[in-house]
This record gives sequence, structure tokens and C-alpha cells, in this order.
Amino acid sequence: ALTAATFAAGTLAGTAALAACDDGEMVIKFSHVTNTDKHPKGIAANLLMERVNEQMDGTACMEVYPNSTLYNDDQVLEAMLQGDVQLAAPSLSKFETFTKVFRIFDLPFMFKNMDAVEEFQQSDAGQDMLDSMTRRGLQGLAFWHNGLKQFSANKPLLMPEDAAGLKFRVQPSDVLVAQMEALDASPQPMAFSEVYGALQTGVVDGQENTWSNIYGQKFFEVQDGVTETNHGLLDYLVVASVDWLDSLDDATREQFLTILDEVTTERNAAIAEVDAENRQAILDAGGTIRELTPEQRAAWVAAMKPVWEQFEGDVGAENIAAAQDINE
Ligand code: LMR
Repeated sequence: ALTAATFAAGTLAGTAALAACDDGEMVIKFSHVTNTDKHPKGIAANLLMERVNEQMDGTACMEVYPNSTLYNDDQVLEAMLQGDVQLAAPSLSKFETFTKVFRIFDLPFMFKNMDAVEEFQQSDAGQDMLDSMTRRGLQGLAFWHNGLKQFSANKPLLMPEDAAGLKFRVQPSDVLVAQMEALDASPQPMAFSEVYGALQTGVVDGQENTWSNIYGQKFFEVQDGVTETNHGLLDYLVVASVDWLDSLDDATREQFLTILDEVTTERNAAIAEVDAENRQAILDAGGTIRELTPEQRAAWVAAMKPVWEQFEGDVGAENIAAAQDINE
């Protein structure tokens, strides 16, 4: 069982909140890469831990390892298949070697806002995607929101031409690589934990991420400014191994999945608030945010949207059409 004191201490220190697991309790390790304070994933993971440790006391005990302290996203899924970790929530861009169906979420300007994302994820097409990797041993359990992405760089970005020739860190996704190539920029796939250093030392010139990641990792401190493009989505898939889920008895699995469901609904409903709080925190810390005029934004759309065509075969024209219907 986890005492309130160990939970608070772990959270405050920003390190793994190591639960004092009792003998006979099943240990559920949850590894992720973001900070915990103010962050949509950090908050949701800690809430899940708190609820599991309260409601499943004596049966199960969850330990959360944030900040890439246990694994990077390029290691965590293999570790999960080995049984070294039971839960993770990598962004939807991190499943490329397992399935291509999540590519729809990386396509630039696919969803007009987070309500549209939520509606698509809850549709049959979205829910079917949770089962897209079972053959490979992974079961999607829930989508967790983070938000829409913004561009930042070591110079002002107002028109797409401003990004030309710059090196941008991207997550390891072919769609994101193609998106940066459409801007005549140079995409550099890199682990999340390395981005701050790469921006600081000039290994890359810019990056794209959500308000919470730009604030949480302090990217704004080592960039000229952030441009509010809202050009793409960064959301998460909570994932477990099929083997681990199968190893649970029915009552335990059901209880765990019910708790996860409640936490998902609660935290996804709060996403607009958390997102706005992080945007404001950047301003309060002296960061620069540039807004686009409608004409400037239209130029970014025109430059990046042609990428859709390249990936229509992977994601399905019918899924693109369904997402666009929701936008209307
Ligand atoms: C990134 O690599 O930029 C993000 O996926 C990190 C995260 O988990 O939000």
C-alpha cells in the first residue's frame, strides 16, 4: 500500500513515486517520459496510481516512473513485451514499428480541435484502433489527451518559408518526417529526453510540441519563440501487453480497467484547462508566443496538408473522411 506521505514526496521530487508494495500485491510499473506537475500525462498517471493503490489495496500496487527515469519511448514497448514494465502511455507517433493506423493522428491539420479528436477516438473507427496491435502482443486500453502542437525555433516563424533550411527535432514518425520535408526543413528524430540539450547546443534549430511539453521541458527558454500553429495532434495511447492482461484474473482485470476508464474520462475532460494553464505559464515565465493571422495560418495549411496524400493508403481514405466530417 502507498501512504499519502510517500505519494506526496515522490510527486514533489518529480521522481518515481515508489509505492511501498505489500507482500502478495501485484506490482504494476508505469513508465513514462514527461514531468508530473501541470502535465496532462503526469497528472493522469499519478491519479491512476492513487486510485489503484487505494481501491486495489492488498491486490495490486502501482509505481509510476516519470521523466524517462526508467525507459525512453523507444525502449518501453520492448520492455513491456519482456514483462519488465506493465503500463506505458507513449504518444501515438511512437507505435510505427507495430502499426500504421495511428498515422492519421500525425497528419497535419487533420483535427480542428480537441473536441473533434475526442469524437473521432470514441467512434467505432477510433475504438477499433485499440486492437490494432494485439497480434504483436500489445493491447491499447485508452486514449489520453495532451493537445495540439505548436512550432518553436531559434528565429521567428510566421510563414512556412521561415522554417525552410532549419533542423527540427521530430518524434520517430514517417508522417512527421514528411511534414517537415514539405516545409523544406530537415527532420531529426530524437528521444524526448534529449530535445532540450539539442536545442540549447544548436544540434537542432527547432521542434514541435504541445504547450505542456514546451513548458514542462522548458523548451521556450532555449528558443526565440513559439508560434501558435495548432498544426497537429499529440495524444497518447495507454498500452499494456496482451500477456500481462491475460495473466490477471477476471475480477482484478475488470477492477483495474474500470479505474483506468474513470481516470481517462475525468482527465480527458480537463484537457482544455491544463493546456491553457501551460500556455499561460510560458508567458508568465517570460517566453514569447506568436499568433498567426488567418492569412499566415492558411499558408502553413497549404504547405503541409499535401502530406495527407502520401499516407492515405496507410490510414484509409474512409478514416480521413470520417475525421473531416467531424470537423464540420
Ligand atoms: C515527444 O516525444 O515529444 C512526446 O511524445 C513526449 C510525450 O510523451 O509527451
